Amino acid sequence: MYNSKIIGLGHYVPENVVTNDDLSKIMDTTDEWIQERTGIQERRWAKPGDGQSTFTMGLEAAKKAISNAGIEKEDIDLIVFATLSPDYYFPGPGVQIQEALEIDTVAALDIRAQCSGFVYSISVADQFIKTGMYKHILVIGSELQSHGIDKSTRGRSISVIFGDGAGAAVLTREEDLTKGILSTHIHSEGKHALELATEAPGMGTRWVTDIIKENDPNDFSYHPYMNGQFVFKHAIKRFSEVISEGLQKNNLEVSDIDMLIPHQANLRISQFIQKRFGLSDDQVYNNIQKYGNTTAASIPIALSEAHEQGKVNEGDTVVLAAFGSGFTWGSVIIKW
Ligand code: COA
Repeated sequence: MYNSKIIGLGHYVPENVVTNDDLSKIMDTTDEWIQERTGIQERRWAKPGDGQSTFTMGLEAAKKAISNAGIEKEDIDLIVFATLSPDYYFPGPGVQIQEALEIDTVAALDIRAQCSGFVYSISVADQFIKTGMYKHILVIGSELQSHGIDKSTRGRSISVIFGDGAGAAVLTREEDLTKGILSTHIHSEGKHALELATEAPGMGTRWVTDIIKENDPNDFSYHPYMNGQFVFKHAIKRFSEVISEGLQKNNLEVSDIDMLIPHQANLRISQFIQKRFGLSDDQVYNNIQKYGNTTAASIPIALSEAHEQGKVNEGDTVVLAAFGSGFTWGSVIIKW
């Protein structure tokens, strides 16, 4: 039996910065409204036609994480890719990474747990390492949101929130069971699936041919829908529960947390959690101000940045926590 530990991190965001003022030119919104409700000042949106995709951004982040880990790509035994915005309906981008890295026939799988995708992926990778089946696992979270959202005033409560980007981590074995990933905790509640969802195209519900046949100008089922206040209420409840669950499992106190990296859903949610747990500003990392909500990419981007900035160090207790569409939620407790 082993623990797993993160030995490499990397992230990538498109160059194109879109400010709140930029958005106010294409929809009825204001910098003031967006900042007040979400804390977001700007986000990155890949430019249409510039060739960037969930896969290409994920690949950039992955290359950085592999280099940062100091391993060869050939050392990787498994690729786990989290996204809600794959390049193809199928297959998922995991296999595109396998092909691009030229790592012959290595296993690749995709995780569909939306904003909780990275936490779920870490949990999956952790199980493979614990049992000894694999030694090095590449975990990627990447999203290209900007091409799928409704950028008119009709879609403003969603489109102002989401951004593009990718983050990646390399996990390996840790023989000292008091170090590395101490535990992961993942949950779901499918009864709220359609409170935050993109319904179409779906094989079981409405396929592309139905949408084209009906040609209904009021059909927006292929854009994300979010019941914002409902999501907000559940997010703060589940974030709190799953952080507490992780701490209790490891006999840790809130004061033991050196760094909490919450999924960057909304700055107001992070601030609520910070206040509820009585954490100081130094104990919580937020970068939603610069990138918006990048769903499965948000935690690895934030973790990679925090690590680069020297805010995550050996011996630190690091907590990752996520909540998102599904609903899904989870946490990871790490002794760095
Ligand atoms: N700019 C200006 N006005 C906007 C707007 C925008 N981008 N989006 C919505 N509005 C308007 C609404 O039309 C509404 O107007 P009305 O009162 O005239 O009807 C008003 O602002 C309030 O809308 P509402 O949806 O009630 O706002 P809210 O306070 O709930 O804030 C969210 C909306 C989305 C910011 C908030 O619900 C939220 O953060 N939810 C959680 C989202 C989240 O974290 N999702 C990711 C989970 S992983």
